[in-house]
Amino acid sequence: MTQPDPQPISVSTPRHIAIIMDGNGRWAEAQGQPRVMGHRAGVKSVRNVVALCRERQVESLTLFAFSSENWHRPEREVKLLMRLFTTVLRREVKLLKKNDVRLKIIGDVSGFDEKLQARILQAEADTAECTGMVLNIAANYGGRWDVVNAARKLTELALQGEIAVSDIDEALLDRFTSLSDQAEVDLLIRTGGEQRISNFVLWQCAYSELFFSDTLWPDFGEAALQEALDAFACRQRRFGLTSAQVAPVA
Ligand code: IPE
Ligand code: IPE
Ligand code: MG
Repeated sequence: MTQPDPQPISVSTPRHIAIIMDGNGRWAEAQGQPRVMGHRAGVKSVRNVVALCRERQVESLTLFAFSSENWHRPEREVKLLMRLFTTVLRREVKLLKKNDVRLKIIGDVSGFDEKLQARILQAEADTAECTGMVLNIAANYGGRWDVVNAARKLTELALQGEIAVSDIDEALLDRFTSLSDQAEVDLLIRTGGEQRISNFVLWQCAYSELFFSDTLWPDFGEAALQEALDAFACRQRRFGLTSAQVAPVA
């Protein structure tokens, strides 16, 4: 992850946006439909937001699709989410390629069945050459898992004598986390009205600007995204400095 630049940054567009796509179930329930209909409707929002971020030249978009805790939902809902994920991966790859978007799945993919794992590898390979934007889909992902995974890798290296314990610092640990190849998360959006992180990008959101939207994910479109971007553009990111240091008076 590139370190934040401690210069005046009230730039208009975030380089990296992460979104907790919440509210699918409530959206469906409000219409007297089964929760699954909300997840289906949510796919449209994903397509839309990917296109909008690509247009706005966002470098990375990270979407929370399935948390490590979501396995504890009713079996029927989990099954359906897996099926939906499998179908969407196959169906959307063409469009991603057309829009020059590289797909990356972050999370413990070993938790998925073999068919889904194969599909993930295929979709990543199919878009590997795309350079316009990276779309990270967090699936069977947990922020704590991400840090533990990095700690394990560092421990292995230390036990093999490849690194000394004293070599371990923030930059080295970061290298083994799942978004290490991309810019810092500038803007973290959560839809659906709740104001919590729910074990999403814990390490990576240390200095993210947070935006909580009441819009349920299936209704999240251009206007709602623009609202978040406008709020971001008005924030002064200080990274520990004083306001005067960040924006010195001319
Ligand atoms: C987010 O929507 C999608 C997933 C967690 C897979 P929810 O399914 O959590 O929707 P609500 O919060 O119950 O409305
Ligand atoms: C977070 O939403 C996970 C995803 C959006 C995939 P949840 O609906 O699972 O979060 P909680 O349970 O409200 O914290
Ligand atoms: Mg929810």
